[in-house]
Amino acid sequence: MEKSSGKKNTAILISGRGSNLRSLIKYAKKKKSLIRIVLVVSDNFSAKGLNYANKSKINNIVLKYSNRESFENRLLKSLKINNVDLICLAGFMKILSGSFIKKFKNPILNIHPSLLPKYKGLNTHNRAIQNKDKYSGATVHIVNKKLDSGKIILQKKVKILKSDSEKSLEKKVLKIEHKIYPKAIIKLLASD
Ligand code: GAR
Repeated sequence: MEKSSGKKNTAILISGRGSNLRSLIKYAKKKKSLIRIVLVVSDNFSAKGLNYANKSKINNIVLKYSNRESFENRLLKSLKINNVDLICLAGFMKILSGSFIKKFKNPILNIHPSLLPKYKGLNTHNRAIQNKDKYSGATVHIVNKKLDSGKIILQKKVKILKSDSEKSLEKKVLKIEHKIYPKAIIKLLASD
């Protein structure tokens, strides 16, 4: 499927708002982008992000998450049908199993709202503020079987001000997330 263009067939997995999906769609539309988004998958029927996929006429599906094994089997089938070379998790809030990662074989990227290895898991902004950290940030990393622990591809810092709340910090971090995700994809694929 249009492999001659050199673009990687990419699936984006979301669970909610989809602002990172929106930034990746914007990047994918550029002539020189290295990816073609062939599939958007949500585990949540009411994910707002699905609207971005629909607006850009990108093939999208919702896979109900009743249990991990069944979800991952259906996901693997869809990835195969769509010849997916790269998965980008963009606010996808379920944990993929080691067995899924092994079966998929191609790279899986994730974006996380902290300066990993600090603050794996949830509530990252709150934890950074509570600990009086001077900086927070975002990280794009390869997904492996340990939560938020795979090889870091790109990371960018933001300053935490005394006046920052969890909400204002989230907003600042999100802004840099939208910048670094496309850059991390370029970095990963350029080394291919
Ligand atoms: C983003 O901040 C992303 O880094 C985070 O969820 C948000 C999704 O926003 N992901 C995680 O916490 C994954 N553990 P979005 O739906 O607007 O892209």
